[in-house]
Amino acid sequence: MKFFVDSADIDAITELHDIGLCDGVTTNPSIIAKSGRDFKEVIKEICAITPGHVSAEVVAMDAAKMVEEGRHLRKIADNVCVKLPLTKDGLKACSILSREGVPTNVTLCFSANQALLAAKCGATYISPFIGRLDDLALDGMELIQDIRTIYDNYGFETEILAASIRNINHAKDCALVGADVMTAPPKVIFQMAGHALTDKGLSAFMKDWESTGQSVI
Ligand code: E4P
Repeated sequence: MKFFVDSADIDAITELHDIGLCDGVTTNPSIIAKSGRDFKEVIKEICAITPGHVSAEVVAMDAAKMVEEGRHLRKIADNVCVKLPLTKDGLKACSILSREGVPTNVTLCFSANQALLAAKCGATYISPFIGRLDDLALDGMELIQDIRTIYDNYGFETEILAASIRNINHAKDCALVGADVMTAPPKVIFQMAGHALTDKGLSAFMKDWESTGQSVI
């Protein structure tokens, strides 16, 4: 399972990359606005940290303009992945860019049918939003499972990029149902490393070790 970092926070992306937990990065217009940084500048910086795909989202609403923006974004770095909304125009732009060999991430997916269309249009990634479905008391994980079944039924190569991950249970459940990738905020990825019993066990080990008066080196 690949881990993408859902953020434009350079320090957090660098730290996760150095640990070995950043296979790519996803951004969206809200994340860029929150960073307060220049869009192209921050994408360029992120692309230099990870060799993995870095999703940069188009903001046009019509297919022709989306394609133009996508081609422009691809000039920033070779690992830019063009993020397109799951609309009729977004799908059309996805088909055109995919045929040109441009990696694409079709975002804002909330149904299995939408995911099926994105795969038909050659998307590299489909991004179903788990947390936003859960917010409405719907079952985000069931959507991931349905997409997995459909893609496996027909051998679609589009990768399921589980998005809108809000907690560590989302991350675990995505792995259990076979999402290819998950994208999560740094906080959630760091939380996955934590366990109260690990902390307790380690502090007991350290206390006992200290009582031996020995050193490893
Ligand atoms: C993914 O590509 C999106 O940027 C992100 O996961 C959305 O998450 P949110 O629903 O928590 O805003």
